[in-house]
Amino acid sequence: MDKIVILTGAGVSAESGLGTFRDAGGVWTQYDLEEVATPEGFAKNPGLVHDFYNARRENCKNKAPNAAHDALARLEREFTGDLMLVTQNVDDLHERAGCQNVVHMHGELMRARCALCDHRYDAPLVMGVADPCPACERGPTRPDIVWFGEMPFFMDDIYVALSAADLFVSIGTSGSVYPAAGFVQIADAAGADTLELNLEPSLGISDFAQARQGPATQIVPEWVAEILG
Ligand code: APR
Repeated sequence: MDKIVILTGAGVSAESGLGTFRDAGGVWTQYDLEEVATPEGFAKNPGLVHDFYNARRENCKNKAPNAAHDALARLEREFTGDLMLVTQNVDDLHERAGCQNVVHMHGELMRARCALCDHRYDAPLVMGVADPCPACERGPTRPDIVWFGEMPFFMDDIYVALSAADLFVSIGTSGSVYPAAGFVQIADAAGADTLELNLEPSLGISDFAQARQGPATQIVPEWVAEILG
């Protein structure tokens, strides 16, 4: 097996203390996603959206990668085949664990972009509606996050990798949001083996050839150790 594609979701960061979205007490039980995670919400009240992401940026800054992030960084270092790590997460815990090539299909909390000239840059800890774009100095700036209704990033690269994969592994995601929730079917149709590592069966569990339930900090290091032999 020399081509692995991994998809991670909020469950991989849960044991670092970052809330998931749809579990009890999750982010979408506390906020209305229409107000804080859609282009329409940003147009209507950009200050509210900045407040939401400023709070998440502050919260993320105080968290540390966990054993699952560390295990995936070890896999990236030691695996001799092709590895693509795609994450739906916007936190930077994979990078802080040492991962060098993380494909952030939903964007990054620590990055910002100009809504006018598309200039991308490292987000300040606190963003506000009055922050001008550092490049064009005119555009309104926004978190470099993919909102509901927007096209995720790097989809062509992801589809190419899924179509060539020997193994697709989904870690810590509920399988609620497309296109990520459909990756397993693409990989399976291309002949890849498929494995779900999750605390509980996801919505897409029936599409996986194999599945293991448990906390990511336990089952991800175990799986990585098996792969590296
Ligand atoms: N270990 C492993 N899995 C866990 C753990 C844990 N410690 N804790 C929770 N999980 C699992 C849950 O069982 C659930 O299946 O993580 C999953 C989290 O699901 P969601 O909260 O729906 O998060 P996610 O799947 O990443 O959401 C996808 O939806 O809101 C959008 O853009 C947002 O990227 C996000 C996307």
